[in-house]
This record gives sequence, structure tokens and C-alpha cells, in this order.
Amino acid sequence: MLPTGYSLTLAGADDVRALTEHWSREVLDNGDDGLFFSPYEPDEDARPATPDRVESIARALVRPLDEPNWQRAWVLRSDALGPRVLGSLSLYGGRLASELHRVGLGMGIEPEHRGRRIGSAMVEAALAWARAQERLAWIDLGVFAMNARARALYKRFGFVEVSERRDAFRVRGVSITDVSMTLALRG
Ligand SMILES: CC(C)(COP(=O)(O)OP(=O)(O)OC[C@H]1O[C@@H](n2cnc3c(N)ncnc32)[C@H](O)[C@@H]1OP(=O)(O)O)[C@@H](O)C(=O)NCCC(=O)NCCS
Repeated sequence: MLPTGYSLTLAGADDVRALTEHWSREVLDNGDDGLFFSPYEPDEDARPATPDRVESIARALVRPLDEPNWQRAWVLRSDALGPRVLGSLSLYGGRLASELHRVGLGMGIEPEHRGRRIGSAMVEAALAWARAQERLAWIDLGVFAMNARARALYKRFGFVEVSERRDAFRVRGVSITDVSMTLALRG
């Protein structure tokens, strides 16, 4: 359950700009105190809110699940901070028609709002939605080996670690091991 004062909603076209601004902020502390959670450098504007990109994400958010490159995103806001997006969880379909029974998951919460079970509430909402979509069978994600909090969260929801890729990324000069986790949506 979300703590009081927060809301979580499925994003529409009007949310995309605020969502991309959140994505830029969420990597700012990537690697601080040796904890990495994103493959982007903290100052790398890898996902800028250009008009083309905003438009392309808005289209993906309403694309049917039987078409490649669909996306759904849950956006976290608080009563106190208004329209600013503080966290998000995205589910996305693959590029090939033959992989559309599988879903990718990515999520992040800005530092001041972590550790309050909000991440758990976000995963819960996304899993309930995914289980209600008949064609979806699996959720896949990548998590950095050092990210104990995220690994614990995913395990608690039944995600299983299936493989490990050493030296998958090098961020701020640090070599990072990426762990693949997967969840069977139907038992
Ligand atoms: C990972 C993240 C989404 C989790 O959300 P959150 O709201 O902070 O997490 P929650 O409070 O819901 O739950 C985290 C769980 O990990 C546990 N935990 C916290 N720190 C931990 C640690 N160092 N080692 C192991 N478990 C830890 C918590 O106790 C909690 O488990 P519990 O509910 O059984 O007590 C959030 O911290 C975040 O955005 N981090 C930075 C970005 C990131 O890592 N994204 C994921 C990339 S794969």
C-alpha cells in the first residue's frame, strides 16, 4: 500500500514531459557511495525530452499489447510536490512480434522517497495490471548485483535470478555485474 500523501497513476500523453524530467533526475545519485543502479552516467542526458521523443513515448503508452514497442508507465506523485513525478515503473513490450508474451520492467524512485515501501506498492500495481492481460506470460528485468535493496524487493515478489553478466556496464569507471531476473505471471 502507498504511504499517505502519495498517488500512483497509469501515465497518459500529458504525463510524458514530467516523466522524462524525472528520468533525468533519478540518475543524479547513480554511483554515490559506490551504489550503482543505472547504466547511465549521472550527468549524461541520455533520455532528453525532445519533441520527437515525447511524441514517441506518448504513442507507445497507448499502443496495443499485440504490437511491438508498447509501453505502460506508472507515475508517482505526492500531494506536497504537485505535478512533479517522483518515481516511475515502466513495462514495455519487445521489438519482435514473437516476443510479445514477455514484458520488460524498469523502475526508479528519487532518493528522498526511497525506503518507504513505495517501490513495493509500485511493483504490486504493475503485477496486478500485467496478470490481468491474458497475452502476457513473463516479466524480465536487469538489476545490478550490488543493488541489494532492489534485488530483495524483486525476490519478495517471486522474481528468480536466471543469469549474471559480469562487466556488463562501466559507469564512472566502475565495472558492473548485471543480474537477469524473471517472473512467471501465471504460476
Ligand atoms: C529499488 C527501489 C525501487 C526500491 O523501492 P523502495 O520504495 O526504496 O523499496 P521498499 O521500501 O518498497 O522495499 C525495499 C525492500 O528492500 C529491503 N532493503 C532495504 N535496504 C536493503 C539492503 N541494503 N539489503 C537488502 N534489503 C534491503 C527493505 O527492507 C525492503 O524489504 P521489506 O519490505 O521486506 O522490509 C528504490 O529504492 C530506488 O528507486 N532505488 C534507486 C533506483 C533503483 O535501484 N532502481 C531499480 C533498478 S533495477
